[in-house]
Amino acid sequence: MGRSGGKLSVSILSGDLAYLAEQVKLVEPFADLIHVDVMDAHFVPPLTLGPVVVACLRRHTELVLDGHLMVDSPAALFDDLAAAGMDRVTFHVEAVDDPEPVIRKAKGAGMGVGMTMNPETPVEAVYPFVEDLDDVIVMSVNPGWAGQGFISGALPKLEAMRAEIERLGLEIDLQIDGGVQPDNARRCVEAGANVLVVSSAIYSTGRIADAAAEFASVAKGAG
Ligand code: DX5
Ligand code: ZN
Repeated sequence: MGRSGGKLSVSILSGDLAYLAEQVKLVEPFADLIHVDVMDAHFVPPLTLGPVVVACLRRHTELVLDGHLMVDSPAALFDDLAAAGMDRVTFHVEAVDDPEPVIRKAKGAGMGVGMTMNPETPVEAVYPFVEDLDDVIVMSVNPGWAGQGFISGALPKLEAMRAEIERLGLEIDLQIDGGVQPDNARRCVEAGANVLVVSSAIYSTGRIADAAAEFASVAKGAG
């Protein structure tokens, strides 16, 4: 087993959501996944989007729809998200008392499943569950908003998680999410991320497709 190939995951949070399908089309040649930030105004203050919007987007793209659930009760959304066409859901370790039934429920709904943690939560919190997961997201900003600065404490967490994934001989995705920019993307890959999640550094640039192409090339180890 080796490291999963490099991938770009574009988070639509900073896109112009009135033109969601068009915003996704712009990055489609370069993105492997579309990262959908689901927020419930409880786990984090903002309220973003959920199954109704995912069902609309599903009709416009065949890219993997990868849900990042910043919600208090992730499992309560699984059936609706699966029916809407979500491919994978990643939930926060801080949000649930017992991750195992949550993992089982996501799989039972036909989706992939991952876990993530806030910047102040040690990455070791997800170790007991890694063999049952399809991905781990290391958060490099406090969840809730795009456009924040990168917290460099995420880099040793990536290194530790990559070492654990290799120790177990797994091929799951290791994602870095938050504040990924041209000046830190390569460091994230070197620290062990195989998936770069990027939003504002693509959608807030005025050169959306070019920026996506550049991040894709860094993610794939070519940039
Ligand atoms: C933050 C979200 C991120 C966000 C990333 O809560 O989980 O996915 O969209 O945005 P940037 O790349 O602008 O930090
Ligand atoms: Zn996210």
